[in-house]
Formats: sequence, C-alpha cells, structure tokens
Amino acid sequence: METNNSVSKLFILLSIGLLVNALLVHTLVSYDKKAILINGKRRILISGSIHYPRSTPQMWEDLIQKAKDGGLDVIDTYVFWNIHEPSPGNYNFEGRYDLVRFIKAVQKQGLYVHLRIGPYICAEWNFGGFPVWLKYVPGISFRTDNEPFKAAMRGFTQKIVEMMKRENLFESQGGPIILSQIENEYGPEGKVFGAAGEAYINWAASMAVELDTGVPWVMCKEEDAPDPVINTCNGFYCDGFAPNKPYKPTLWTEAWSGWFTEFGGPLNHRPVEDLAFAVARFIQKGGSFFNYYMYHGGTNFGRTAGGPFITTSYDYDAPIDEYGLIREPKYGHLTELHRAIKQCEQALVSSDPTITILGSSQQAYVFSTENGNCAAFLSNSDSKSAARVMFNNLHYDLPPWSMSILPDCRSVVFNTAIVGTQTSGNQMLPTNSELLSWETYDEDISSLEDNPTTTAVGLLEQINITRDSSDYLWYITSVDIGPSPSLLRGGQKPTLTVQSRGHALHVFINGQLSGSVYGTREAMRCRFTGPANLNAGMNRIALLSIAVGLPNNGIHFETWETGILGPVLLRGLDTGNRDLSWQKWTYKVGLKGEAMNLVSATGISSVEWVKGALFAQPQKPLTWYKAYFDVPNGDEPLALDMRSMGKGQVWINGESIGRYWTAYAAGSCGLCSYSGTYRPPKCQLGCGEPTQRWYHVPRSWLKPTQNLLVIFEEVGGDASKISLVRRITGKTI
Ligand SMILES: *[C@@H]1O[C@H](CO)[C@@H](O)[C@H](O)[C@H]1NC(C)=O
Repeated sequence: METNNSVSKLFILLSIGLLVNALLVHTLVSYDKKAILINGKRRILISGSIHYPRSTPQMWEDLIQKAKDGGLDVIDTYVFWNIHEPSPGNYNFEGRYDLVRFIKAVQKQGLYVHLRIGPYICAEWNFGGFPVWLKYVPGISFRTDNEPFKAAMRGFTQKIVEMMKRENLFESQGGPIILSQIENEYGPEGKVFGAAGEAYINWAASMAVELDTGVPWVMCKEEDAPDPVINTCNGFYCDGFAPNKPYKPTLWTEAWSGWFTEFGGPLNHRPVEDLAFAVARFIQKGGSFFNYYMYHGGTNFGRTAGGPFITTSYDYDAPIDEYGLIREPKYGHLTELHRAIKQCEQALVSSDPTITILGSSQQAYVFSTENGNCAAFLSNSDSKSAARVMFNNLHYDLPPWSMSILPDCRSVVFNTAIVGTQTSGNQMLPTNSELLSWETYDEDISSLEDNPTTTAVGLLEQINITRDSSDYLWYITSVDIGPSPSLLRGGQKPTLTVQSRGHALHVFINGQLSGSVYGTREAMRCRFTGPANLNAGMNRIALLSIAVGLPNNGIHFETWETGILGPVLLRGLDTGNRDLSWQKWTYKVGLKGEAMNLVSATGISSVEWVKGALFAQPQKPLTWYKAYFDVPNGDEPLALDMRSMGKGQVWINGESIGRYWTAYAAGSCGLCSYSGTYRPPKCQLGCGEPTQRWYHVPRSWLKPTQNLLVIFEEVGGDASKISLVRRITGKTI
C-alpha cells in the first residue's frame, strides 16, 4: 500500500514534470509591435556585446556576472567564421573559440543570448569574419546573388544552427538564445548592388527562416529586411528609428558605447551622460531592446584584428574595460539607468505614450495603463541650457541634454546627466616580476632567395601568395648599376620609389634598412621615396611588405589588393631612370623565425641566441628577442608595457598576444569637443602618444615560473625597458 502510494505520487510528479517540460519546449519567442515576447510576455530587454574570442574562457564567468550585476538581460555575440573554419571543412571550437561553452556560461547565470551569426560580421575583425580561403573559391563574389557564396554562407549558418540545436540552446528548446542575426549592416551595400542585392537579401532571409530555430531573426541596418525578419538600428543614437513594418518592434542592436581604435589614431571616448541620454530617448520613443556595442570589448589576440590597422586592444571605452575591470562612471551610471527603465517596464510594454510639450526643447512622454501603471520620461534636448518644467502640477529641473525618469509619474529616480558614480581611473602599476635572461636572434635576410616561395616577372598581389598565413611577404630583386657609383649623375645618390597598396613597408637595400612607410585605415596605400645607397655592380633590393589585418568592410572588399603594386623606380642613375617593376622578383612568405617556430618553447632551441646584445646601439631592425619571467603576485590582470619598442608581434608561452605598434603615435586629434548634438561625439584622447602602449597578457596563459616571452621587432627598439605591469581599478569609495 505504502509502496503503491509512493509510486503513484511519483507518477503524478513525473506527469507534471513532463507537462511543464512540454509547455517549455513548445514556447516560441515571438514579437509584436511593442516588444519581443518570451513565454508570451512582452519584455524590455537590455543587452550587451561580449565577444567570446576577445577574452579567455577563464574570464567569461566574471564578465557575464558583471554584465548581470550591471542590469543586463541579454549577452550579444557575433559568431566568428574564420576562427572556426580555418580551412574548408576543418573546424575549431576549442578554448577561446568554444562557442557552446560561452553560451552555456551565459545560460548558467540566467541571461539570454542574441547570436549574430552573420556570417559576415564586420566587427573590426580580420576579413570581416570571412575565412581567407573563401576568397579563392572559384567564381565567388561576396555578399551578393552569387551561387558559390550563397552555398558557403548557407553551409556555415546551417552548421552553427545545428550545433545550437544539438545542445538545446535556442529558447524554443529551453535554451538561452532568444534572437539571431543573419547578415550584418547590408543596407548600404544592397543599395549599390541593386537587383542582385535585393535577390540576395531575400534569399538570406528565407534561408535563415527555413532553419526553423523557433526564435526571431534580425537584420541590422537593412531597411528592406523581408518579413518576418526584423530590421534593427545601429548607431550613436537610434530614437529616430522605426522598423519597416508597423507590426515589428523597435530594436537597437548596436548602441555604440565608445569606438574602436586604429594604430596611429587617437583613443575615442563617449561620455556616459550622452550614452545614457541616447538610450533613455530610445526607450521614451517606444524602443524595447537595446544592446551596448561593446559592453566588454576585449582584445584582438593573435592576428585577428581587422581593418587594416585596428589595434590589438578592442577596449571600445566600454563599461567593462579590456582587462575585465569595471570602468566608472560608465558602468555604474548605466546600471542605475537600467534599474530605472526596469521600474517602468510594465507601463512601457502595455501602452503607447501620450506626448506633452513642456517647452521649446522639453517634452513629456507618459505611459499609463488601465490598471494604474504610470511611467513618465521628461526630456530636455537643449544641449546648452537647463530647463525648469511643470509636469502634473509639479516643478522639475532638467539639466541640459538630459532625461528624467519617473516610474510612478511623480518622483524622479534617475536623470541621465546627473552622474552619482565616481570615476574609477583604472591604471597600470608595476609588478614584482622581472623579465630575465634576455637573448636576441637576428632574422637572417642574406639568403631569402635560397628557398623562395615563388618567382615571377613583375609584382604579385600579396594575399594571393601568403593566403594570410603570415603578415609578412618579401619582394626581392637585384639591379646592376655598372662599374662605378661615381658615375651617378651629379654626385647625387639615386632615388628609390616604391608604391604599395598597403599596409606597411620596410625597404632594405643591400641588407640595410633604408626606411619604412605606413598607410592608414582610411588610406591604405603608401609610397616610399628615399635615397638609394647603391654600390658599383649588383645591388639587392628587398622589400618587406606587411599586412596589418585584412579589410573588414567596404564594397567587395574581397577584391581589394595588398602589397607592392608598383611602380618600383630608380631615378637619377647616370643612365637615366630604371623601372624595376617588370623585372624578375623573388617572393618569400613569412619570416625565418616564423618558419622555425621561434615563438614556442620547442622552436627556440633551433637557433643560436645571442646574450648581451640587448644593449647594443643602435638597435637593429628585424630582431627576435626572448626572455623569461615568473608570474607576479596577486590576481590583477596583466599587461606588457611595450612603449620602448617599435612595431612587431609578441608571444607568451607560444600564444600570440597580438600585433604591437608603439612607434605609431596618434596624429591629429582634438580634446573632447562633445557638443551634445546628434552627431558622433568627438572626444579624442592620447594625442602624440602611442595609440596602444599596453598589451593584455591573460593570467590563464601563465605558469608559476619560467614563462617564455618572445618578441619580433621590425624596426628597432629598446627591449630592456619592456616591463610587465598589472591593471588595478582606482575606484575609491
Ligand atoms: C593568384 O595567383 C594565381 C597564380 O599566380 C593567378 O593565376 C591568379 O589570377 C591570382 N588570383 C588573384 C585573385 O589575384
């Protein structure tokens, strides 16, 4: 009897369990004109971008916890095709690339996920997220009505969706993913491509929808997003945005919390008062989902930075800094904003606002429901003057360019311009760890021709040869100027001119560095012109052309060319000018040190390192350095201070920290001239300073002792001054 009773109780419990389970499984995420609906309920959703490969798995839990504490409901990430499929059909989802682990880490903390599959993602990421091999698929043309491209795009999108389904990660399966994105900012491109663009975007939408994820798809910056795909806004401000159909909700997929940096450019800063006002206005006007791009920007490790010229740091002036530390007042002020918005959630999702004019630049938006909910947003869009307004028979003072939030239509719980949070002043401090046992190795360039990658008459495009296996490509040729240099016209040295499509170029004549030139992100081309130190007889010209990240956006960026374009001219010889462009050139991909894997503990033993050369003056170009260090005390995030160096790459225990380029200082930039108008704020810092001085060293890459640091320096620097620093939060209570 007793047993039977238990069994039937168990049976009832099981049945309820199955029923609940069945209900959950069949819940779809949907939308209407007001909002995204989860479990049939309209929601105001606050989201932030955290890109899994831009931090380490050891950092993820803490970043997501901080996002949750900051009032976020959703974590947004792109999916990065080129790291997952380095060669066709070979997949990598390990370590930082473990997408499933990242999504499960978000789920564990009870947050949702917006999965922006793309697979074109832009993202200041190498080649916009496309694998470089994709460019060499016969007949391919990116992001248009092109069969090879569409087949590849469908293949990867399907692969990711199936992977998510297998792990039950869509909300429709009880998982955290509530939204997915197909394509990315296609609108401007689509207009240029005309009918082909339209056919492509229609195809992309139905391809995605047919994958049957049970959650809505969005397209950002694509006003022609076909139903049922929702078009969404990206920008500094999105309160003027409306979706393309009245039955779609108003979503903001990228609220720019700051901006990225490029080598040679300034640091960009967006004041939190302006960001908070932008978000509050978006909500005031009926927006129901916004996502900070970025909430944590992180680091472009290895050669993942796009651009060209995007820095290794992708800090973005985000609420959580590159190192995972909270940045105040941005983080705290936004947290308070989120709390205020959430207090208004019921009123916001259940009613349309009544708008009252309070003054020439002052308005009240009131959301009130039949069951007595009332929330009010009082705005002052005058960027210069404060205003005193009368609302519901009470006086309210509104600072310039600000919004007050009144969750009960009476008391102000938050004003976007009144920042109560203290500035944190995160900073770098020394560590107790010394870099020891320095040794150097000269990259040998005397025998580049011995084992060439290829030879050709004329100048070849760089990426076609390197396939991006290295940043570096040597172009080598010889020129015989006859018996005596005294024959040079007028006793003047001849001039060498080299025209490059980008991105950086070092010119070596007879083994000596004659000079370097660099492009910029906006103008990638660069031209070297300088005196040529030629000897009588045969001279060797070796041009080291360097890619600094492949372009991540622009019309058909897959066709953009990199490397020496020509002409390569010698002027002022007594025999006149010589065009070297069409003579025989020898090509060598990569550095010798790369081929010998000098970055790793096993590879370093393959060459003779030299002790004591560190302090030689002048410092030589093309030099490898190595040193060892013990892990510093404490648990603060770590970085290398590379200020004394020039340009190159750095590795720790075989892992690439990324490209460094401290010799490229920020040129023209003004101080913060933020004007509070509907323009991107121009707050630029760090003029005359290296754009990026510090390079993140993840603690999880270190062992207690004998950590191997390897540096490749292109132009010359003082390695003895490199130091390991720790990042601390300077917040004082
Ligand atoms: C790449 O190089 C090959 C071999 O030299 C050549 O046939 C081809 O046209 C090149 N492709 C591009 C896109 O430059």
